[in-house]
Amino acid sequence: MPRLWQADIQTVLLTERRIRRRVRELAGELTRDYAGKDLLVVPLLTGTLMFLADLLRHLTLPLRLDFLGVSSYGAGTVSGHLVLTKELRLEAQGRHVLLVDDILDTGRTLAEVQARMAALGPQSLRTCVLLDKPARRREPVQADYVGFVIPDLFVVGYGLDYAERYRNLPFIGVLHPRLYQGQEVARQPAAEET
Ligand code: IMP
Ligand code: MG
Repeated sequence: MPRLWQADIQTVLLTERRIRRRVRELAGELTRDYAGKDLLVVPLLTGTLMFLADLLRHLTLPLRLDFLGVSSYGAGTVSGHLVLTKELRLEAQGRHVLLVDDILDTGRTLAEVQARMAALGPQSLRTCVLLDKPARRREPVQADYVGFVIPDLFVVGYGLDYAERYRNLPFIGVLHPRLYQGQEVARQPAAEET
């Protein structure tokens, strides 16, 4: 690990190599499951950036891509309320829609996003997440494709942030708790781009 990150990252949870292997497997599964279908991939900004880029290059399927931007407001403001920061531009009605997110935590984000997407009348709607932290689930949300199930740790890197930082780490690491001592990290800062 580069010296710059050593002070902030307690441990590496998922190495670049492990992520690469698993993302290729997921892409293989998706390619099989959606064979013969024209896919609309809807990733959530911004945490999906690396996962998405790696997944897409191994999807051997005709597809279109349209980002959805959501911002979550946590403790202190309206808990669980999502604000749309970028709307869908492509038609979802009658399409095979695959939602992509970085991590399924409490499930509040995906519960709301899934409901919004379902209301648009897609032919099918499935969800793919890189990480799943079932220990913190509050909403009965499930993902159809999961890269890794992880323990209740706050992780950063490979697109995932803490206060908009660390997205550029090529691996997934556990953030040193002294960086957020006592705070409810997943809900900090009050408004954050997921
Ligand atoms: P949920 O609505 O609680 O499921 O949270 C989903 C969003 O919270 C994700 O898209 C992330 O932006 C953020 N999040 C939850 N857990 C983590 C984590 O361990 N590291 C970084 N971001 C996280
Ligand atoms: Mg985030």
